[in-house]
Amino acid sequence: MNAKRRPLRCFTTPNALTNKRVFPPPTRFLSSSQSHAPDHHKSAHKRPHPPGTAVVTDDEIAKLASKPQHSLSLADLVKHGRPPLSTEALYSSANFTLSLLPIRLAKRIQALRNLPFIVVSNPNINKIYNNYLHSLSTLLPWQHRTISNLDAEIRFTSVLAELVATHDQTIPILAKGFLECRRYISPPEVTKFLDTHLRTRIGTRLIAEQHIALHYSSAPHFDPSASPTPCPEHPTYIGVIDTALSPAAIVDSCAGFVADICELKYGVRPHWTIDGEPETTFAFVPMHLEYIATELLKNAFRATIENRQTREPIVITIAPEPPDAGPPRVTLDPPAEDKGAFKSDAIKPLDDNAPGVTIRIRDRGGGIAPEVLPNIWSYSFTTFNEEDDFPSDGSSQDALGIISSASGGGSSIAGLGYGLPLSRAYAEYFGGGIALQSLYGWGTDVYLRLKGVGKIQ
Ligand SMILES: Nc1ncnc2c1ncn2[C@@H]1O[C@H](COP(=O)(O)OP(=O)(O)OP(=O)(O)O)[C@@H](O)[C@H]1O
Ligand SMILES: [Mg+2]
Repeated sequence: MNAKRRPLRCFTTPNALTNKRVFPPPTRFLSSSQSHAPDHHKSAHKRPHPPGTAVVTDDEIAKLASKPQHSLSLADLVKHGRPPLSTEALYSSANFTLSLLPIRLAKRIQALRNLPFIVVSNPNINKIYNNYLHSLSTLLPWQHRTISNLDAEIRFTSVLAELVATHDQTIPILAKGFLECRRYISPPEVTKFLDTHLRTRIGTRLIAEQHIALHYSSAPHFDPSASPTPCPEHPTYIGVIDTALSPAAIVDSCAGFVADICELKYGVRPHWTIDGEPETTFAFVPMHLEYIATELLKNAFRATIENRQTREPIVITIAPEPPDAGPPRVTLDPPAEDKGAFKSDAIKPLDDNAPGVTIRIRDRGGGIAPEVLPNIWSYSFTTFNEEDDFPSDGSSQDALGIISSASGGGSSIAGLGYGLPLSRAYAEYFGGGIALQSLYGWGTDVYLRLKGVGKIQ
């Protein structure tokens, strides 16, 4: 099964739509020209907003942020029908997308404003803040409109593609920003902010990417080469959801990619086997599984190499739950403090009783020391420490390139400390989860449970 390939789909936005905008550099510290807003963070005093470059009024942000956030269900994402979408169904997808995104962006802007002022004034965090302001400003002109002609739908889709591209590097940039701000904000506060922020981001991107994929697989715009997923030519796809996803194929492909990284970095190529029921298929979002599998395999491969056990294969077991489900096969429950605390944004599956799949990744990497174990779910916690790979001043483009591994498909083996917590956020998004069992001195078992998203008609 050892294929030497990259993950199947590198999720990029269609070329024609990704003219990235160059933003003016953010103003540093306390130079906000915007009006003051109530401070929701600890103090009753008013304080200035972080420096912002896009024109969105405080009133608009406050109004949108006060609206309830539609809790997304998978049924929402597939309700416009199977591709190729008719023109009418395409408009309905566009209008539904438009009804969701401004509220989500405004809530993120509010959350960033509620960080300590010195933190959101950090150039990296401020860049993310400005990206949100900018994206909201590009959506606002569409707000009170109904998309009902092809020209408008095309322009709206290009706004979405720009939005997705604008936020592509959010994770490495935030990571760098919080690293630079570690004197001003505690690790639990960072984890609390990031957990909510990155979980919401999963949903926001999914909404935008779903419409982009449906656009290119719709009757009026059919263009397989421009689609971010192969849905037009792949009958099992509805937008970014594969209704017959093979976890074994994805995991195998990701393992090949991670082995390539190991070969480059360590000159060693660990091997792996896939057992259990590799022929299993279920409905899921392939790019989410690719992200999680890559992160878990990077951890397992790195540990195996560092523990000098490369002759022992990493064993990946695919275990589908029986259709009459009952409790999941994996009953290993992580301690309460290990569970993701912010599940409110999780997407509802189509069918609560849809059977899931558990993927166990077993390595002989020596396990995790007891004193390390309590920290592994915190953002930014890592035991990887190599000056060459992670320059401490964090200022060069190279450093950013290296830490971009967490944004998916990067080419470093470790270093950011985002792999486990973010993988868990992705797994929990559809009601699954991750549990880890360390046998210190021997190896680690990671159980990734993915809840099937249900039967899609
Ligand atoms: N399979 C494993 N075997 C041994 N240690 C592990 C394993 N998985 C995770 N760890 C430990 O948990 C820590 C946190 O893992 P996590 O994936 O979140 O971050 P990272 O691998 O250090 O960096 P990255 O953001 O690139 O993933 C690791 O640094 C490592 O010490
Ligand atoms: Mg990792």
